[in-house]
Amino acid sequence: NIVIHGTYFTSKNVNEVEFHEDHLICIDRSGTITRTLSPVDAEYSQILNDARQAGRLIELKPNQYLLPGFIDLHVHAPQWPQAGLALELPLADWLNHYTFPLEAKFADSHYARRVYQDFVHQLLSHGTTTAMMFGTIHNDANVELARQSVTQGLRAFVGQVVMDNPEQTPDYYRNQSSVSALHATEQFIKEIFELAKKTSSTVVPVITPRFVPSCTDEALTGLGQLAKQYDLPVQSHLSESNWEHGYAIKRFGIHDTAVMDHFHLLTEKSVMAHGTQLTSDDLTTLRQRGTTIAHCPISNVYFGNGVLAVKKLLAYGNSVRLGSDISGGYSPSLYHNIRQAIKSSQMLTDGVDSSLATATRGVKDSRITMANAFYLATVGGAKALQLKVGKIAPGFQADFQIVNGHQPLMKLSIADVFQRLMYQTEQQDIQSVYVAGKRVYERE
Ligand code: GUN
Ligand code: FE
Repeated sequence: NIVIHGTYFTSKNVNEVEFHEDHLICIDRSGTITRTLSPVDAEYSQILNDARQAGRLIELKPNQYLLPGFIDLHVHAPQWPQAGLALELPLADWLNHYTFPLEAKFADSHYARRVYQDFVHQLLSHGTTTAMMFGTIHNDANVELARQSVTQGLRAFVGQVVMDNPEQTPDYYRNQSSVSALHATEQFIKEIFELAKKTSSTVVPVITPRFVPSCTDEALTGLGQLAKQYDLPVQSHLSESNWEHGYAIKRFGIHDTAVMDHFHLLTEKSVMAHGTQLTSDDLTTLRQRGTTIAHCPISNVYFGNGVLAVKKLLAYGNSVRLGSDISGGYSPSLYHNIRQAIKSSQMLTDGVDSSLATATRGVKDSRITMANAFYLATVGGAKALQLKVGKIAPGFQADFQIVNGHQPLMKLSIADVFQRLMYQTEQQDIQSVYVAGKRVYERE
């Protein structure tokens, strides 16, 4: 149906990026990429001319580039109004004094609509085309988040948050009981299934125990059963901080990974955020279950009490992908999170103890490359959600962003152009964003 003409970047595998200059990308009516052609292909000129004459050609300007849309695997939509606030607090204080009071406001669906309308727009305008999101405990507000996503064209995995443990949640923001929490989740699942059917959009309900501290055993049991009954993805936080990791040990005598596993919440459709405190036994369990770890590098600087050893985990064979964790992370931009992932890995390599200038600092060989991080944010993330997106290649959905490069002031190879794009691109450099071949954002 439409044809794009220009230069594109896409992940080949976790270690390599492909560069394709002056190519054609053909997209059918369903929004699937059917073929890509290089200038030496026989039909190149004819397809280019036909599309141009039929007004079906999207022609990239000089210095514009096509990239896959990003996949954000961990983000709290209701926390958008406080992005950037109170990051100097420890996790528990930040939750109790900022996050829970803010999320409680989403009992008001009008407020929810106002925030979610803006937030979905923010994600798209930063180049994110698929997001796995936490909502709040409120059905109506969560359905509003799903609706906004459908209306604006974001592929959305939306979670109805469960938090029913009176010992770790405030009176003003808690499910009344485990029974009512499970009932609300099931209700939400049905509403989202209905919405997905009616609109034929990618909008998926997600089983969402907030994290081990906030949930009773009854809630965790019921959520594990619902995940199985409806074959749904699960999202939560895992071994995020010293406090959270220690809490599970105190309550259960085992790590939170083992707790989640006990309640059947670790599957190949599960995405667990953070994991900075995971041990090798925990990682083995996650690997055996096929569960993904959403690495949230900006958030981890503030709340993680550690740096996730991304390179080591990938070498072990664990699925590690990327999340912004708004508002534990302050930026909805996966560009910013890609940069932080690389910076944090370099700091892990070199160590941070400046009092001892010895060769024993740091964890050798921890550095990840731009190609690694780009993979996590694109086709890697898509695999965790079992979606055919995140790659510019035949058979994949046409989810992508067109980015304006900065004026080059020296000769740059195409590989250099890619590096600079990844380091320099800000929201205002993103010209347009497409999901399933349809434009969902255009810069004014
Ligand atoms: N742990 C439990 N809830 C949250 C949250 O909202 N953000 C982060 N970063 N960690 C959490
Ligand atoms: Fe989070």
